[in-house]
Formats: sequence, structure tokens, C-alpha cells
Amino acid sequence: MANIIIVGTQWGDEGKGKIVDFLAEFADIVVRFQGGNNAGHTMVVNNEQFICHLIPSGIVQNKTCFIGNGVVVDPEVLVGEIDYLNNKGFPVDSNNLKISEKAHLILPYHKQIDIAREDKDGDKKIGTTGRGIGPSYEDKAARKGLRFVDLIDADVFCEKLKNIIKEKNFFLQHYLSADPLDSEKTIDQYSGYAERLAPHVADISVAIHRAIKKGKQILFEGAQGTHLDIDHGTYPYVTSSSTVAGNACCGAGIGPKEITGVMGIVKAYTTRVGRGPFPTELFDVTGDLIQKKGAEFGATTGRRRRCGWLDAVILKNSIRLNGLTGLGITKLDVLGGLETLHICTAYEYNGKILHDFPTDLKTLSGCKPIYETLPGWPEDISKIDNIDDFPKTTRNYLDRVEALAETPIDIVSVGPGRDETIMLRNPFL
Ligand code: GDP
Ligand code: IMO
Ligand code: MG
Repeated sequence: MANIIIVGTQWGDEGKGKIVDFLAEFADIVVRFQGGNNAGHTMVVNNEQFICHLIPSGIVQNKTCFIGNGVVVDPEVLVGEIDYLNNKGFPVDSNNLKISEKAHLILPYHKQIDIAREDKDGDKKIGTTGRGIGPSYEDKAARKGLRFVDLIDADVFCEKLKNIIKEKNFFLQHYLSADPLDSEKTIDQYSGYAERLAPHVADISVAIHRAIKKGKQILFEGAQGTHLDIDHGTYPYVTSSSTVAGNACCGAGIGPKEITGVMGIVKAYTTRVGRGPFPTELFDVTGDLIQKKGAEFGATTGRRRRCGWLDAVILKNSIRLNGLTGLGITKLDVLGGLETLHICTAYEYNGKILHDFPTDLKTLSGCKPIYETLPGWPEDISKIDNIDDFPKTTRNYLDRVEALAETPIDIVSVGPGRDETIMLRNPFL
């Protein structure tokens, strides 16, 4: 039996949704374990596109989906996503979607604080998605959060909300110069969500444990990317959760001995949305070309993604931080038509060669990438379904990535569609 974690190795949007959808065929349950609706995971099946922000990408394979305790959930968004999938012909009910009773809620003041704080911070802002993710995790750590277990108990919810809203309104009005919230209105609104979502609320840890005992296979779907991790990313230009594989256990409520593999998703180049250092970022026509050909716009906020070459320094950082056992390379087709390709193998900083990703942002911002140059390929590879049919230079590029990563490539993706995927080794078998 196999239980596999999928994580992003870069700054998010590596194509995790697509690979999770593809691999979900071999799993029984797909579990989200961190983040919230800052995530935007895209699946394309039979030319139809689906974007999920909270519900695991296994839903389009009609798999059972769990939202773990480590996720912060905006009930309004979740209800909307259930309706969206139902309308698309993918029924979501209390049998195939379960939400941890321990998962924290995103409340209206979290979104308001997120947006008002970014406004106030001006050019020092993080560039968040404005979905209230940070403020919700802040409350969790401060032990002021409300959880699903509270949402489904009207009296408890009412009492806790009335208490906290006093503090939030003070902060909103007097520090952020924003409008205060009406607690009665929020209670009213959330009682509607409670009614809708109560049948889905469960003890996810127990449910996963029982499923594993019965021999079921679990796929854990990471959100964001390793370099947006609260501890290991480019702090403070990060998200507010732990995005690395180790957190799959904590955010789902299981022990590490159940995990049999960790796949890191690697875009064949690098993108970043939001602010923060990005050593291989391109500011030239090649960057624009990749951005256009790769349709690099955020799946959550629609913002243009910054684009650059593949960075093996951050890839190696991810391999160590996540204990990756295999790689899934995505968007290889996008590089087609470029005469030469570059892979960053180290950084140069003040005359010194750095092989490890530096912590200090001042250092990182001053790092110049050292590139290795490889020949590109003019051919369109998006219809190729066997790695042996790739042009020699495409094979070359993959071989070089694998050699630099010292980790096997398990999957190569050559288009957004589920069938535009070449599997070299199935982690579930
Ligand atoms: P995620 O957040 O990691 O799930 O990634 P997103 O869904 O935000 O962004 C990835 C984008 O690339 C989506 O629009 C996908 O449909 C698309 N995509 C995924 N894999 C491929 C691929 O191999 N080739 C191309 N051209 N597009 C891809
Ligand atoms: P998926 O799962 C790319 C970025 C935001 C911002 C920073 C903090 O689709 O890969 P937040 O709203 O989390 O407080 O914003 O993190 N960010 C993402 N970037 N993909 C994501 O998710 C992201 N989720 C958050 O742009 O820079
Ligand atoms: Mg995304």
C-alpha cells in the first residue's frame, strides 16, 4: 500500500492540481492538509477546465476528499465550490467530502484585516491573495481562532464570535481605519454555512487511520510551494502555513510512518506571484514569451506571474526540506521554440559561489544566478506520449535536471490536460 504526498518545489502554481488529478486514479482518498483558498489548483479533463481552491483535486476523479485540520477554511468559498462542482456534474455530498472538525475558519474580519493591512503597508506589502489566510493562522496560533467544531454549535459560535469581534473591531477601526463588523450579521451569515456544512464535519484523523487500516491508498495534496513555507521560504514574503511534506502528517492527523513517498512538482521554468526575491527572474522578451506561452496568470487572483529560468538551487533546497522521492516535471511544452535554455546551478554573491539557498533576504536579493546553457528544441512536444519520442535536446534537458536533482523524474507533463502526461514510474505501484 502506498500513501503519497505531493508538494510544490518552487513558489506555487507548479501544476500540483493537474498531477494530483492524474494520480488520484490510483488513490482512494485525497487530502488537503494546509493553506486555504489562497490556492488555485487547475485540472483539465476532456478540454474542460476546473479550478479548485479548497476541495482536493481528487474530486474530478470522483474520489473521496478530505480537508484536514491544518487547512483554514472560508465557509463561504467552500459552499460556493460545492455548488460549482455540483453544477459541473461532479456531485459533492457528505459521503465524498469530509472536513476536519479541527480546521480553523476564515471569518470576515480575517479578510478585512488582510486587505487593510496590505493597503497600509504600501510598498512593503507581501502581495497576499487577500483571502484572510495570514490573519486566520495568526488567530490559530494566538488561540483565538474559531473551528468547525465551534461553527456547528450555534451557542458556542455566538459566544466566541461576540467576544473576539470586539477586539477585531477595535483593531480594524483604530489601527487600520477600516469599517467595523456587525456581529449579528456575521452570526446570521455563518449559521447558514453551518447548516450546509455540518453533515461534512468529521474527525479526519480517525477517518484516515481507519482507511489506511483497510488498505486504502491516500494522496496528500500540498498547496503553495516550498519557498512560500512559513519557516523555510523567503520570509516574510511567504504564506502563513508550513507547506513542506512534513506538515502533511500534522495537518491531516497521522504519523510519518504511514508515508511511502513524496513527489515534488517542478515547473520546467520558475514562476512567482506576489512580491519577494526571485534570483532567476527574467525581465526581457524571453520572460514575456514564457509568461504568454505558459498563460502564467494566477488561478486565484488573476495576477500576472513573474517568470524566470529553472533554479536548481531552490530545487535542491526542496529535495532536502521535503525528502523528495520523485519529481513531477510540468509545462515542459512551454519551453519549446526557445533556441537556448538556462538552468541556474549556483549563485554568485559578492565574489563567492553559493550552492545553498541563503536565508538572509539581503543576501538572496544580491545573488546572481550562475547558468548552465543547454540547447532548446523547436518541435511541439505536447502530443508526445512516450519519453523515447522526445527530441534529443528535450531528453538532454530532463537528464540534466535529474542529474542536478539526484532524484528520479516520475512524471513529465506536456500540456494542461489529464492525458498530456507521461508516467515513468507510478509512485502508487
Ligand atoms: P497549482 O497551483 O500547482 O495546482 O498550479 P495552477 O493550477 O495554479 O497553475 C498551473 C497552470 O498550468 C494551470 O493553468 C494548468 O492548467 C497549467 N498546466 C499544468 N501542467 C501543464 C503542462 O504540462 N503544460 C501546460 N502548457 N500547462 C500546464
Ligand atoms: P497554489 O496552491 C502561488 C502567495 C501570494 C503571496 C504569498 C502570501 O495555487 O500553488 P497569502 O494570501 O497566502 O497570505 O499570500 O503567497 N501565494 C501563492 N502563490 N500559488 C499559491 O497557491 C499561493 N498561495 C499563496 O501570492 O505572495
Ligand atoms: Mg495555483
